Amino acid sequence: MRELVYYAAVTLDGFIAGPHGEFDAFLVEGDHMDGINARFADTLPTVAAEALGIAQERTMFDTVLMGWNTYAVGGLPSPYRHLRQIVFSRTQHGEAENLEITAEDPVEVVRRLKQEDGRAIWLCGGGALAATLADEIDRLVLKRQPLLFGSGIPLFGDRPYHPERFDAVDTTAYGTGVVVTELVRRPAG
Ligand SMILES: NC(=O)c1ccc[n+]([C@@H]2O[C@H](COP(=O)([O-])OP(=O)(O)OC[C@H]3O[C@@H](n4cnc5c(N)ncnc54)[C@H](OP(=O)(O)O)[C@@H]3O)[C@@H](O)[C@H]2O)c1
Repeated sequence: MRELVYYAAVTLDGFIAGPHGEFDAFLVEGDHMDGINARFADTLPTVAAEALGIAQERTMFDTVLMGWNTYAVGGLPSPYRHLRQIVFSRTQHGEAENLEITAEDPVEVVRRLKQEDGRAIWLCGGGALAATLADEIDRLVLKRQPLLFGSGIPLFGDRPYHPERFDAVDTTAYGTGVVVTELVRRPAG
């Protein structure tokens, strides 16, 4: 079955953006960039991959899920047009190349997608959508940045206390201090 993978950059204190969506403090230069771009090429915006001459062959992901705020902040009508893009919003409407906006329950959409053939499903974010989909996440790929934000948008929005165990399956530490950790959900029982 296809996995739902939450792949995101996060600060040491658990934020994916500042309180007003700030992301300029994230390190976007250094040795981690080449490693990440090569391994997770499917997650680059299509125009960025084209500019860098990086092929996007959908070897890892063929679908991406975004909350409305994450989609809106990018400012592009179809940011990942090499993928099937699904944007969740109860207030916004529209469509673009390879992109649909839906008010459907994200959990139902994910359960349906998991029954279809295909590559893994990338949960891009943000924190609100991740909180809604937390129980459906099979794998986490966290790009931990050597930063404290103090406050901001949490990796998992607002969730009640509910410990869930994941096992680390791969960790790559870069000279910049960015650490990419891949974790899979430990089966219940
Ligand atoms: N560091 C990273 O790797 C990373 C990755 C992704 C995003 N981000 C950042 O995260 C921030 C956005 O995160 P966020 O938590 O504010 O928002 P978000 O999860 O991106 O979007 C929230 C919006 O999505 C819609 N939504 C959420 N749950 C829904 C549901 N159950 N059904 C239907 N629609 C639903 C709602 O839109 P409506 O109000 O229109 O209904 C809601 O207001 C941005 O600043 C972005 O840059 C960072």
